[in-house]
Amino acid sequence: MACKRGALIVLEGVDKAGKTTQCKKLVQALQQSGRPAEMMRFPDRTTTIGQLISAYLEKKSDLEDHTVHLLFSANRWELVPLIKKKLEQGTTLVIDRYAFSGVAFTSAKPGFCLDWCMKPDVGLPKPDLVMFLQLSPAEAALRGQFGEERYETSVFQKAVQQKFEQLMKDPSVNWRVIDASQSVEDVHENIRTQSLNAINTAENQQLGELWK
Ligand code: TMP
Repeated sequence: MACKRGALIVLEGVDKAGKTTQCKKLVQALQQSGRPAEMMRFPDRTTTIGQLISAYLEKKSDLEDHTVHLLFSANRWELVPLIKKKLEQGTTLVIDRYAFSGVAFTSAKPGFCLDWCMKPDVGLPKPDLVMFLQLSPAEAALRGQFGEERYETSVFQKAVQQKFEQLMKDPSVNWRVIDASQSVEDVHENIRTQSLNAINTAENQQLGELWK
C-alpha cells in the first residue's frame, strides 16, 4: 500500500438520534486536523437504484418487502468500488447508516429473520468502527414529531431499536454505544475520540469483510 489507508467509520441509530449532524461535525473536525475525510450516506438517493428507494420511502411507490431490502443492499454494493478506492487513497469515510440499518429495518417487519436480512450484505467492506447513537423513545419524542416518510412511527422505531440491540451482540463488529442524550458538543467529543483511535488502528490493518 503506497499510503496508510483511511478508516471506515459508521454511525447508526434510530431516528432523531442526531446521526447526520454528528457525521458532518466529525468530518469537519477530521479535515481541520489535517486528516482527509469525507461523508457518505445510505441510502444514496442519487443513483438509479437510490431513486427507486427514495420514491418508496416517500411513499410515491410501493415495493415488495424482500425487493426493497435487496435494493438497499444493492445500493451499498454499487458504491463499494468507490469506498475501497477512497480508503486506499488514505481518506477516512464517515458513513451515515450502513448494512446495520438495512438489517434492523427489514427484520422489524413481520416474517423476516435477522439471518436472511444479513445475507445480501455479507462481504461488504467491514467498518473499523460502528457507533450506535443511543436515544430512548421518550427522549426521541421530546425532539419533535417524526417525519412523513415510511418507517417514521414510534411503534416501528421501537421494533427497529430492538433489532439493533440484537445486532450489537455480535462481537465480530467493533460496536460502541454513544449516549446521544448529551449535548451536541459532548456527543461530538465522544465520537471524535473514538474515531481517532479507530483511524490509528486501521492504518496498520487490512480492510475486513463484513459478517464473513
Ligand atoms: P434517511 O435517509 O433519513 O437516513 O432515511 C432512510 C430510511 O431508510 C430510514 O428510515 C432507514 C431506512 N433504511 C432501510 O430501511 N434500509 C437500509 O438499508 C437503510 C440504509 C436505511
